[in-house]
Amino acid sequence: MGVTTVTDVRHTVSADGPTESRVPNPLSPLSTLFRSDLGGHEQVLLCQDRESGLKAVIALHSTALGPALGGTRFHAYASEEHPEEAALLDALNLARGMSYKNALAGLDHGGGKAVILGDPEEIKTEKLLLAYGRFVASLGGRYVTACDVGTYVADMDVVARECPWTTGRSPEHGGAGDSSVLTAFGVFQGMRASAQASWGAPTLRGRRVGIAGVGKVGHHLVEHLLEDGAEVVVTDVRAESVDRVLARHPRVQAVRDTEALIRADLDVYAPCALGGALDDATVPVLTAKVVCGAANNQLAHPGVEKDLDGRGILYAPDYVVNAGGVIQVADELHGFDFDRAKAKAAKIYDTTLAIFDRARTDGIPPAAAADRLAEHRMAEGHGG
Ligand SMILES: NC(=O)c1ccc[n+]([C@@H]2O[C@H](COP(=O)([O-])OP(=O)(O)OC[C@H]3O[C@@H](n4cnc5c(N)ncnc54)[C@H](O)[C@@H]3O)[C@@H](O)[C@H]2O)c1
Repeated sequence: MGVTTVTDVRHTVSADGPTESRVPNPLSPLSTLFRSDLGGHEQVLLCQDRESGLKAVIALHSTALGPALGGTRFHAYASEEHPEEAALLDALNLARGMSYKNALAGLDHGGGKAVILGDPEEIKTEKLLLAYGRFVASLGGRYVTACDVGTYVADMDVVARECPWTTGRSPEHGGAGDSSVLTAFGVFQGMRASAQASWGAPTLRGRRVGIAGVGKVGHHLVEHLLEDGAEVVVTDVRAESVDRVLARHPRVQAVRDTEALIRADLDVYAPCALGGALDDATVPVLTAKVVCGAANNQLAHPGVEKDLDGRGILYAPDYVVNAGGVIQVADELHGFDFDRAKAKAAKIYDTTLAIFDRARTDGIPPAAAADRLAEHRMAEGHGG
């Protein structure tokens, strides 16, 4: 069994994703652990199961709104000098981000996240996942786990055999399955809110929207946009992904890469691939007036949100508009009801508008306004 302690971590705007590689933390995990001036974490569990080789960190940032909810990342922190420390910092940052994401998604859940150390291709076994499930279960429901990078619906089915506080399972095992449908729906709602704020009507009709990455989420987003009357341009590093979209929707245009996309004559740019899409190279050449997409950690470093603001580009915070997935896995805990979860994801429209209002009132970028609203809800506690 692991060690439980109280910790803290510096603030990041991002909600999810491999923050350790993008946002260098100047503090060591141990010094970070005991700093409480930024809110602090409630609990951290370090887990080791010698028999299966499991090494994991489970970080609970907050249970102020309810049980901490967040996925399990399975990742080899191999390139790092101190992989264990990198994993711990990642778990701390990701857990904190989940508190913000869950708060603004209107969920009665706090933020938590787990990291399993190692290359999933090499060490992921049923035995290891079952051992991991027992550790999550030992928290007695203070932490609810789900999929993240390196873990899948089938893995959650295994974890759930040892742990009732597991979501993101397959429909055959009582779960809701693939979360990309509601994630894309939520992003579309965020985009409608951005259109309302920018052009005075909640529609993308007649707007030119560029999507970078037409994988699970991106291709569903294409469908929402076409239905709404938008003109859609896509790109993807995988030719098959682009071909699949073009085969279904001949009206969609494709460009060779993301660089060409952001320089195209766009109204909206939707990053739906990897993190760090908005950086010092891309922001100055963006033609779009709105950025709204599914990718986690779109801002490559703190300050990019101000650069976007300075150029008059409206940025819909990633962790707010891509919350459809976590809304889905939270719903699954009550017996999945697609319509109920969709109704909750539809509220991303109102939340995004509220963030833009707050940004205007306070004279700050939307990313900072989102954080303030999330902190307010957490301070109010359950039902706040
Ligand atoms: N799936 C969800 O429910 C969910 C929820 C919240 C956030 N997200 C985030 O949304 C993003 C997309 O998720 P997904 O589930 O669709 O993933 P995915 O892997 O199915 O799709 C990503 C697509 O991006 C493409 N891609 C990768 N690098 C690229 C590049 N440099 N330029 C253009 N295309 C590139 C890939 O080929 C792939 O087709 C990720 O950042 C993910 O973390 C997803």
